[in-house]
Amino acid sequence: MKVHLIYFSPGGTTKKTIQNIAKGMKDVEIIEHDMLKKENREKKYSFSKNELVIIGMPTMTKLFGLPKEIIGVLNGNNTPFVGAVTCGNGYYGKALIVMKKAMEERGFKMVAGGGFVGQYTFSKELAKGRPDEKDERIQRKLGEDVYKKVFLKKDITFNTKLKIDWPNEGVFSTIKCALISAAPGIGGAVPRSWNELFVSDTCIQCGKCVRHCPVEAITLTDHIEINRDKCIGCYGCANVCPVSAIKLANKTMIKAVENVMKFRDKRKEPDVFI
Ligand SMILES: Cc1cc2nc3c(=O)[nH]c(=O)nc-3n(C[C@H](O)[C@H](O)[C@H](O)COP(=O)(O)O)c2cc1C
Repeated sequence: MKVHLIYFSPGGTTKKTIQNIAKGMKDVEIIEHDMLKKENREKKYSFSKNELVIIGMPTMTKLFGLPKEIIGVLNGNNTPFVGAVTCGNGYYGKALIVMKKAMEERGFKMVAGGGFVGQYTFSKELAKGRPDEKDERIQRKLGEDVYKKVFLKKDITFNTKLKIDWPNEGVFSTIKCALISAAPGIGGAVPRSWNELFVSDTCIQCGKCVRHCPVEAITLTDHIEINRDKCIGCYGCANVCPVSAIKLANKTMIKAVENVMKFRDKRKEPDVFI
């Protein structure tokens, strides 16, 4: 039995989440598709009803990353899928709901879903180390339950209501969520003016950020150059940098992150739907 793990994970927490779910399944062949890689987003995929897809993306009220592009190359034939979304100890908004709809339009059938927590993209201090051991237990258990449901009982029904995970962290987040929710499309995007990054002279020019960037926005000559028109604001470059040389530079974005930090001190637990 083939299980396909499909993820877009600039900071690595979504990838870990998806892999933890798969760890709960025995005797399956696991095939990974890392959608940070442009060449993988340029392929076309077709899955049968006997395979299982576990797909994961970070959230920003809706899906964050390149959700339209990624889901657009996937073709299911009544293929069961598990949808997993990650948030930075805040909220995942409508992300699971829009993911379900977009995947079902491409021939997939949701059998389970989860709203999980991953270390916050913009600060190593928020949701530090998550998914941690406690998260992993919940994620493996979901994998075990999906395995029993889909592969043993051959049951691909799903009657559980998904939730809208609305923020509880002040006016700024409420307005942001209301605007993103009302806008068309399945994804949220960072305003271009907020994308500005600063590369300090501690940069060792290792090129990790160049290779990690999902949209080829970074070039290395005698210094690192980030193309703001291409950058999607995923902050993967900063998170993969071994010497933390890349930092936020836009004042509004820095303020937004500071605001978030005030509200997210209480540990949020995952939501599982099966
Ligand atoms: C542009 C952007 C917006 C985000 N917005 C939210 C948000 O609204 N609420 C939240 O809890 N986390 C938010 N996050 C945090 C990520 O969803 C979270 O840290 C996730 O675990 C990152 O996944 P990754 O490590 O696979 O990249 C945002 C991250 C990015 C890059």
